[in-house]
Amino acid sequence: MSLISIENLHVHFISRGIDNQLITAKALNGVSFSLEAGQVMGIVGETGAGKSLTANSILGLLRPPAKIVKGRILFNGEDIRVHDHETSSVRGKQITLIPQSPKTSLDPTTRIGDQLIRMQVEHGTASGSDAYARALNMLEQVQIPDPTRRMSAWPHELSGGMAQRVLIAASLINSPKLVIADEPTTGLDLTVQAEILDTLRKLVTANNMSSIIITHDLGIVAHYCDRMAVMFAGSVVEEGDVVSVFKKPLHPYTQSLIASTPKQIAKNGYKRITTGPPDLYNLGNGCSYKDRCHKAQPICETAPQWVSVDSGHQTWCHFPGHSLNA
Ligand SMILES: Nc1ncnc2c1ncn2[C@@H]1O[C@H](COP(=O)(O)OP(=O)(O)OP(=O)(O)O)[C@@H](O)[C@H]1O
Ligand code: SF4
Ligand SMILES: [Mg+2]
Repeated sequence: MSLISIENLHVHFISRGIDNQLITAKALNGVSFSLEAGQVMGIVGETGAGKSLTANSILGLLRPPAKIVKGRILFNGEDIRVHDHETSSVRGKQITLIPQSPKTSLDPTTRIGDQLIRMQVEHGTASGSDAYARALNMLEQVQIPDPTRRMSAWPHELSGGMAQRVLIAASLINSPKLVIADEPTTGLDLTVQAEILDTLRKLVTANNMSSIIITHDLGIVAHYCDRMAVMFAGSVVEEGDVVSVFKKPLHPYTQSLIASTPKQIAKNGYKRITTGPPDLYNLGNGCSYKDRCHKAQPICETAPQWVSVDSGHQTWCHFPGHSLNA
């Protein structure tokens, strides 16, 4: 059984337009993927593709007007979507988040050590000297310099990289099963970014946890992830083992993403994207990528089916193929 399995998840934003009529933005339109214990999944896709919304759905952080209208989120086989009021023991303890902005995610009025201790006390995992020892140990594990001194530091005294390490410590302190990192190293310089992702990957593997890393950077996916899901306009359009997807990208959008990496641009030149993302308020029934797709045919006006090629590598396209001439 998968640790987490997202099945055909649909999230809509329903609000009133200027004429007071109800209008619907179809922000997630069939997100499906699964992840085994011990694996790291990368989610990629352009801005607005629905990556954070997918993470927030798993974390139970959706707020009105966002609404899950279809699909399931199975965690250890249990649908955590339907028990929002009951799942605090899962969310925040068994599933945790490493957010994008470390400085604004730490409580500025509380010393680092006290924040790490408080998280354990709130979830009932440790208290008193045990919680202090665990907090110190986590700061050591994320390789904070001089961890004993940092226990009594204020958030504003930390660099961006150090603050991000504290957030990794915070996300792992209650020994979760799944850690979701939403663009965890954006804004940090490349060396710090690599050190932090190395630390995260090592800790996740050492503790047999799973992780979902959301990023725009295919290099991060190639280096740190076992599996990847490619999102476009609120749908996963390709999912599979990282080696298989990079070697044999099947969906035209995945092919264009790979063709946009610096290595491929140096080799084949830069191809400009001339159309924006589809309007989420006016999505048709067919393939959402059709306006941008060089392979589009009349049948693409109807929704594609999932096509599996290798075991665990599948795509959502009428004409999957593996040329990089997207
Ligand atoms: N309140 C809202 N009403 C309507 N649409 C919304 C609302 N909030 C978010 N959206 C839309 O949901 C879509 C998915 O947003 P999401 O934040 O998940 O994108 P993302 O893939 O994480 O992008 P980025 O890479 O920029 O972080 C976007 O198109 C966004 O405009
Ligand atoms: S279904 Fe058609 S339009 Fe959509 S990606 Fe595949 S070939 Fe292109
Ligand atoms: Mg986002």
